[in-house]
Amino acid sequence: MGREHIWLLIVSIYLVKTCATFSTPAEETSTIPSNSTDWLVDYSDIKTKFSLRTAEEPDDDTCYLVPGQLDTISQCQFNTDVKTFVIIHGWTVTGLFESWVSKLVVALYEREPAANIIVVDWLNRAQQHYPTSAAYTKLVGQDVAKFINWIETGLNYPWEKIHLLGYSLGAHVAGIAGFLANNKVYRITGLDPAGPGFEHADAQSSLSPDDASFVDVLHTNTRGSPGRSIGIQRPVGHVDIYPNGGTFQPGCDLQSTIKMIATSGFYYMDQIVKCSHERSIHLFIDSLVNEEQQSLAYRCNSKETFNQGLCLSCRKNRCTKMGYDVKKVRSRRSASMYLKTRGAMPYKVFHYQVKVHFFNERNVTFKDEPLKVSLIGVLDKKEDISLVLPVMRTNTTASFLLTSDVDIGELREVKLQWEKDSVFSFSNWWSQHQFNIRRLRIKSGETQAKVVFTAKDGEFAHLVRGGEYVSFVRSKEDHANRKQER
Ligand SMILES: *[C@@H]1O[C@H](CO)[C@@H](O)[C@H](O)[C@H]1NC(C)=O
Ligand SMILES: *[C@@H]1O[C@H](CO)[C@@H](O)[C@H](O)[C@H]1NC(C)=O
Ligand SMILES: *[C@@H]1O[C@H](CO)[C@@H](O)[C@H](O)[C@H]1NC(C)=O
Repeated sequence: MGREHIWLLIVSIYLVKTCATFSTPAEETSTIPSNSTDWLVDYSDIKTKFSLRTAEEPDDDTCYLVPGQLDTISQCQFNTDVKTFVIIHGWTVTGLFESWVSKLVVALYEREPAANIIVVDWLNRAQQHYPTSAAYTKLVGQDVAKFINWIETGLNYPWEKIHLLGYSLGAHVAGIAGFLANNKVYRITGLDPAGPGFEHADAQSSLSPDDASFVDVLHTNTRGSPGRSIGIQRPVGHVDIYPNGGTFQPGCDLQSTIKMIATSGFYYMDQIVKCSHERSIHLFIDSLVNEEQQSLAYRCNSKETFNQGLCLSCRKNRCTKMGYDVKKVRSRRSASMYLKTRGAMPYKVFHYQVKVHFFNERNVTFKDEPLKVSLIGVLDKKEDISLVLPVMRTNTTASFLLTSDVDIGELREVKLQWEKDSVFSFSNWWSQHQFNIRRLRIKSGETQAKVVFTAKDGEFAHLVRGGEYVSFVRSKEDHANRKQER
């Protein structure tokens, strides 16, 4: 059995486990609260636990805040003057907290040392068959709403200080809680909200922009048809960010995961399948702890357009930091935003749009051509960035996206190489494949600088298939050209 087959097998087992039962309606486990809010102060049936974790013991639940019991507030040293973060986990196979929980606690304390960081424990209801656990989000959401109401009314704690963070099913729990609470909460961060059972759900039973003053969402595992995708595909917040297109994350490929099995053992198999899903959390943690290396995301209509480099604008709130410091813009329509990342922390990359016009005397068109680009800057260089250009056509301009994981600083020189197809093609023998290039126009997403490069030797550079690198340097007329660039 090849590696691909093993991988498919793992994924199918996982999907069968998680999705197979969606054809049967999820049992109704909740009575819908009436328009009276009396139920909000009935603490007798709360099954969810609220643990105030400390920076000293981020792994352990040492003190529980119990709705209705004000003495637990002082026992746990809940500080009413500072922000509160409420972390809500998702579905679990093991019935234990996953390792990301304490990592997120630690990262939040690193950024906000004085804050109250609360971990919601609904492990019992979260370790059922997926559809059962998914249906339980209503009851858990009610429990969390009661908790929020209790600290808001009982302690006069301002709702503006409450930030809920929910992962997977926990994102919908956060949404339901925010919706039901008497006062809104300030912010809900949805970390790859669960897809199965929620893709077509109404706003009241899933995360939606109505659930908090500001709702931001990271989508990291949205492969497959809607309803089958582990992470929800549709936008559910004010700002919805789709790193790497949102479907699948770098570093979660077969080779990396096989390595992980080898080092961590088969016990972690479900973790491996969840690699892209859980990446949403690690991207958020990255934004907390690597403050000086913040990733930028850009508003765009689709990942295809983004991949052409056409969306690297920061005008009118079109770009934002990803994660904790996301720009809190509430537009009427949800803003879908995109970015590329590295496969490991720190995740930040630098984005560039490259525009190149291909001159030729004859009409020729090439499809899916492999190119290599090297970017040389004042600080560093990034060599041999590979990409496949969908179309190279005579007298047309191609636009594509390039990323560099190193900060090369201000660009000085750019080199371009047209590789030969890996498959040997006979036509190469008698047909000279080349384009003439006069200029490259490059826009940096991170600095918003636009620079024009001209051929280093002569008016045109001759880009030959299978040939040498051709070089471009900053144009002397760069400044004059800049205005035309728009
Ligand atoms: C619920 O709302 C309806 C109409 O909006 C009202 O007639 C009814 O009295 C309300 N019930 C409670 C318990 O407030
Ligand atoms: C492409 O444009 C150049 C310069 O404008 C021109 O000389 C050439 O004939 C054009 N090629 C074709 C195939 O039209
Ligand atoms: C190249 O194609 C364009 C548009 O298809 C056409 O107008 C032009 O005449 C062609 N040029 C040559 C040299 O064949």
